[in-house]
Amino acid sequence: MPEEAFWETLFDVDEIVDAFGWTGTDEPRDRHAIEFGCGYGSFTAALKDVFRGRLDCFELEPEMICRTKARIPEGCSTVHFHALDFLAEPWPSESRGAEVAILFHMLHLDDPLSLLRRVSEHLAPGGTLAVLHWRSDRETPRGPAMNTRPTLADLEHWADELNARSLTTLNLTRSPHHFAASIELP
Ligand SMILES: C[S@@+](CC[C@H](N)C(=O)[O-])C[C@H]1O[C@@H](n2cnc3c(N)ncnc32)[C@H](O)[C@@H]1O
Repeated sequence: MPEEAFWETLFDVDEIVDAFGWTGTDEPRDRHAIEFGCGYGSFTAALKDVFRGRLDCFELEPEMICRTKARIPEGCSTVHFHALDFLAEPWPSESRGAEVAILFHMLHLDDPLSLLRRVSEHLAPGGTLAVLHWRSDRETPRGPAMNTRPTLADLEHWADELNARSLTTLNLTRSPHHFAASIELP
């Protein structure tokens, strides 16, 4: 990843969190999400305010966990960090049944569908996959190789394979290098 201050000039966190419709909702109970790869915690502080029931962060790099923890107010009891490789290791049972999986800048993997199948089995029925990634239809200032970035066609294929109820692409204007989509699981 690029250096943190530069990384966070490349997208607009508030716009992205708003675009998923998580803010300003009147939920009957506090929601639970899992953030896959929290990195510098660029989104984590905003996410903890919307997923007030529980936010589990799975992250490989201990220094990224330290950086993200420093952005969470002391005494906050709803954010839980798990130092693990989410591709290779078991996931903590207390994270099971989350409503939303946050997969931001993560799906340029060798086999994203295998991860998404595992995620969808781990979430509560009717859960949501929240995807954000670099656009693959234009040059961007950073991001992985173009041919590894997920495309809308990839998302449509994965949504079909998962028997998703819907796939919604979100409109981002202040984050022009990115696209975002929400996949609603059965
Ligand atoms: C490109 S950064 C994205 C961070 C954050 N999601 C964001 O959008 O700002 C990817 C992060 O995921 C972590 N990561 C990558 N593969 C992982 C894995 N298999 N298990 C856990 N964390 C992983 C990396 O250590 C890194 O901090």
